[in-house]
Amino acid sequence: MKPEELEALKERALKELSSAKNLADLEALRVKYLGKKGEITQALKSLKDLPLEEKKTVGAKLNELKEILEEFYKEKKNSLLLEEEDREEGIDLTLPGRKPERGALHPLTQTIEEICEIFTRLGFEVVTGPEVESDHYNFTALNIPEWHPARDMQATFYLKNGALLRTHTSPMQIRAMLERTPPLRIIAPGKVYRCDADVRHSPMFHQVEGLMIDDKTSFSDLKGILSFFAREIFGEKTKVRFRPSYFPFTEPSVEMDISCVICDGKGCRVCSQTGWLEILGAGMVHPEVLKAVNYDISKWQGFAFGLGVERIAMIKFGIDDIRLFFDNHLNFLESFK
Ligand code: PHE
Repeated sequence: MKPEELEALKERALKELSSAKNLADLEALRVKYLGKKGEITQALKSLKDLPLEEKKTVGAKLNELKEILEEFYKEKKNSLLLEEEDREEGIDLTLPGRKPERGALHPLTQTIEEICEIFTRLGFEVVTGPEVESDHYNFTALNIPEWHPARDMQATFYLKNGALLRTHTSPMQIRAMLERTPPLRIIAPGKVYRCDADVRHSPMFHQVEGLMIDDKTSFSDLKGILSFFAREIFGEKTKVRFRPSYFPFTEPSVEMDISCVICDGKGCRVCSQTGWLEILGAGMVHPEVLKAVNYDISKWQGFAFGLGVERIAMIKFGIDDIRLFFDNHLNFLESFK
């Protein structure tokens, strides 16, 4: 064996040994080089055919290589053994499993779902509609005349093309009536927009609209259904009261208050010492609105209501700043799991 051949053998053997991925691979390499019929062993055996001088030099080199490979093999075997132990010990079956992080529905989504669920039980159908509305659906068809303060630029976000961001969910009344024939009962949750921002107001907030039309629906039905709703969402003991109010699209119009959930009606800071909290606006659908969708007003009548989801959620969960709903702080959101 020439010196270059020996050098090549050494390099090849070391390279292969160092890249052995597991004990089985390594054992195969030991057999290949150091086993009884291995390359090194064979080379040593063939020494006897060499002239004496060469026998000495090549023999010494071969023995040196054999030792290097054996040493290398031992080290490699140890490190593979350690790796394998680690891999087995890495799985401690007695440790408790790692819990996957669970998300939760946003408190407003929870509130919307609860509201819709209550009305669904009363036969209301959940519908949704566009947030970008036309002047007609948001105002005109709802009997909101040109001069009405609700059309003030301050409250409404107008788009360049003349459309607007709906300022309430009431346009869903119009859309629902046009898409259906009476009698009907719909509940319409969604986002609404008003140019307004402080602790109590957000430029985007949520409302749920309700509408019931048939040939017998009266003001008593409005009071009965909304009282039932208040008790369902705020608890059996909740008292309600109706105050006269004004909306262009209902006549007569009312606002409904619930007895303050904080002080039980005794009077506190939250209810401004009145014992009552306003939660929604409602009324009998104005004949002008029915006419706008071509409903026969001598036959059909009904009531509508609109409630603010943030307000209901703030009362329900005892939250005093509307902005918390939109800040997306995990501490806040995780408390609703
Ligand atoms: N759309 C009214 C508002 O945003 C609420 C409302 C809806 C009142 C339906 C009466 C009937 O304030």
